[in-house]
Amino acid sequence: MQIIVGAQWGDEGKGKIVDYLSEHADWIVRYQGGNNAGHTVIVGEETFKLHLVPSGICRNKRSILGNGVVLNPIALVNELEALHARGFQTEGRFFISERAHLILHQHLAQDQAEEAGRSQKVGTTGKGIGPAYMAKVARSGVRAGAWQTAELNAEEQAAMQKLRPYLANTEHLLHEALEKGEHILLEGAQGTFLDIDHGTYPFVTSSNCSSGGACTGSGLPPTAVRSVTGILKAYTTRVGNGPFPTELTDDTGTYLQQQGHEFGTTTGRIRRCGWLDLVMANYARRINGITEWAITKLDVLSGLEQIQVCTAYQHQGQTLAGYPSQLQTLENLTPIYTSLPGWSESLAECRQLSDLPANARHYLNFIAEQTHTPIAYVSVGPERNQTLMP
Ligand code: GDP
Ligand code: IMO
Ligand code: MG
Repeated sequence: MQIIVGAQWGDEGKGKIVDYLSEHADWIVRYQGGNNAGHTVIVGEETFKLHLVPSGICRNKRSILGNGVVLNPIALVNELEALHARGFQTEGRFFISERAHLILHQHLAQDQAEEAGRSQKVGTTGKGIGPAYMAKVARSGVRAGAWQTAELNAEEQAAMQKLRPYLANTEHLLHEALEKGEHILLEGAQGTFLDIDHGTYPFVTSSNCSSGGACTGSGLPPTAVRSVTGILKAYTTRVGNGPFPTELTDDTGTYLQQQGHEFGTTTGRIRRCGWLDLVMANYARRINGITEWAITKLDVLSGLEQIQVCTAYQHQGQTLAGYPSQLQTLENLTPIYTSLPGWSESLAECRQLSDLPANARHYLNFIAEQTHTPIAYVSVGPERNQTLMP
């Protein structure tokens, strides 16, 4: 069992890496979040923008929406129908936990009303995620398996009728898979810094995106976890509001935004961009127990003369130990940078580590050393084959 977790504020390239790793997996399981997520998978000429269905679908693998997910039945039916139209079969290989909670129309309205009423906007995706989790925690939510006993509106009922064949006791399916020795990939949505507990609260989402959530959100036990792959973009991005110590609001930020096509998959918003932050990476490593990195979008850094990497935070003249828990500290700290030499070559055609320019390899070595964690995958483009295994 392998957990794939975003190590920043989401959009690290989880979809691409999960698709890559799915080749050798038997099951792919989403364990939290809902259709606030947007995972892009590119295979040859085909682009898939997935919001709920696990990225393993692109390899026709068996996949599960775990109990920790909140699902909008109408949005899910639309996503499945779009996949069917492209020739994908989901019957018998896609399962929805009967324990997963539904996002209903009142949750969408509530999400928008709450956001409108906030003086400090979170910048939610407006998909009803927070209110659906609120209902779950308040014990007034509707579980997918109990949809017939709930008072749904006609459109939601029609969608649930279509989803009925997919409902299953997925926790039991996964326990059996584990006992048979099958390989299970757990696909995180969002990222560590959007985690409701460990992220930059209140500028977070409403679930545990970090690896702890993978167990509670799937029913699989922590003792079954063999590895935790942290997905780390070679720079940092954030959609929505909240503190971002290494944010670049100058031409370099615009360069990263444009080279990296940094637009939100779900909302189309421009993603804020900044330098790689290894204080964040180290916190993500510790929170998630990351055993290896997948470094993505290294190609986007081509063309920069010097690349800054944040290695420490200073606040009121002191170097901080650990990641600050207080918003006020995060908003007022000074990032301390190490400057590394850049490279001008395109990385798009690189297929092994030795193809990379020396300075790009040096950049990777610096990340591995500073985080005491090996790099298992390097991504140099959005396509499946633009992936190196050092
Ligand atoms: P996720 O939410 O973590 O799955 O990430 P998204 O799919 O929302 O955002 C990542 C974006 O970068 C997508 O458009 C991917 O196609 C693209 N992408 C992934 N890896 C790479 C890479 O190594 N290089 C480049 N240039 N694009 C990448
Ligand atoms: P993937 O899986 C990036 C952000 C929103 C907002 C905050 C709360 O593609 O990495 P919500 O609608 O969840 O209540 O919004 O979280 N957010 C994401 N940012 N990637 C995502 O998912 C996100 N899902 C939510 O922009 O700031
Ligand atoms: Mg995304």
